[in-house]
Amino acid sequence: MTGAVAGRALRDPFAVRAQHLNGSSLAELFVLARERSAIDLAVGTPGFPVTPPRLIEGAVEALRSGRNQYEAAHGEAMLRRQIADSFSTPADPDTDITVTVGGTEALCAAVLASVDPGDEVVILEPFYENFVNAIALAGGVPRVVSLRAPHWRLDAAELAEAFGPRTRALIVNSPSNPTGRMLTLEELDEIARLCERWDVTVISDEVYAGLVFDGRNHLSVMDVPGLRDRSIVIGSLSKSLAVSGWRLGYLRAEARRTDVLRRVHEVTSNGAAAPLQFAAGHAGLVAGERWRPAIDLAARRDVAQQIFGDLGFTFQPAEGGCFLLADISAVTAADCRDYVRRLLEESAVLVVPATPFFADPERGSRYVRIAFNRTLDTLRAAERNLSR
Ligand SMILES: Cc1ncc(COP(=O)(O)O)c(C=O)c1O
Repeated sequence: MTGAVAGRALRDPFAVRAQHLNGSSLAELFVLARERSAIDLAVGTPGFPVTPPRLIEGAVEALRSGRNQYEAAHGEAMLRRQIADSFSTPADPDTDITVTVGGTEALCAAVLASVDPGDEVVILEPFYENFVNAIALAGGVPRVVSLRAPHWRLDAAELAEAFGPRTRALIVNSPSNPTGRMLTLEELDEIARLCERWDVTVISDEVYAGLVFDGRNHLSVMDVPGLRDRSIVIGSLSKSLAVSGWRLGYLRAEARRTDVLRRVHEVTSNGAAAPLQFAAGHAGLVAGERWRPAIDLAARRDVAQQIFGDLGFTFQPAEGGCFLLADISAVTAADCRDYVRRLLEESAVLVVPATPFFADPERGSRYVRIAFNRTLDTLRAAERNLSR
């Protein structure tokens, strides 16, 4: 209740599901960063790689040639084909793939399609913050399993303890934001065993599948036979093609699940931007044949690891993605939120306090997240600032 008018109690105008969504915890830091012209190693917005010129030309051409009206809600045909081809297990672009408004809408649609109010959803901590928000929107209840530092591995017994009759879904993210870790086949097999036992849907956020380093292959839940038919994959073109502003993402799931996902998607957006889908679908880049940013991004990871390693931060080398999760214990006794602010004030470099990636902020208080999808010039400029 928010008050009373003429003796009548007023209802709170907001649905409970919307009241507990976490906004960006960084707003205040960004204001400070702007005032100080700080170097931003906080957000994942790509400073590198650069957007492929063919994509931009394709988008301009699509706009000029009149592709400005509604596209099929589930996505432009050629783009769906390219997305289907990017998986190592066969996918049918007509029945298994849906183009969404970024991975963000894909996540929302996947959770809304799979979770009823009161259902439990298992998530692995540290997690991408929006997982908790998407679960809240669906009225679900997060059940958090902590990965163990410093390797951020999954403990099979602890995972098993989190499952029960109320478990409806599990959200995984590999490569991970924020840890840069990839799930192993053994971990995925264990997940498959539990999800089969409790009849649970796996929502697998694979938005960094194209950014995998050191000769590793990305392992999708679709590569695991026990998971293929009970999983929904979330993908994105934002980081791998450096088009985060185009808002293009996708869902992959077997035909029956895709039917329901598409209905939710029709309600949430009714389709992504038609000319941009056309450009992405016809540039021949999604499957990555002529576009391999991962190798050059690994070089940036190495530079970031050298810079922050020299400062005394400790971390696991990122196996994929665009982030490092670094322990600051050897550098400071301060809480990461105070330390990040000090780093910003003294060195004009912005990184992210890791507290939002943990259910209990205390557990994240010794960590910061560093984005390394930046130009070498930006990383070296950060190094100079930090050495001051
Ligand atoms: C793990 C993860 N999932 C999903 C997203 C959403 O990506 P987008 O909506 O730009 O495709 C992000 C963006 O940072 C992310 O890090």
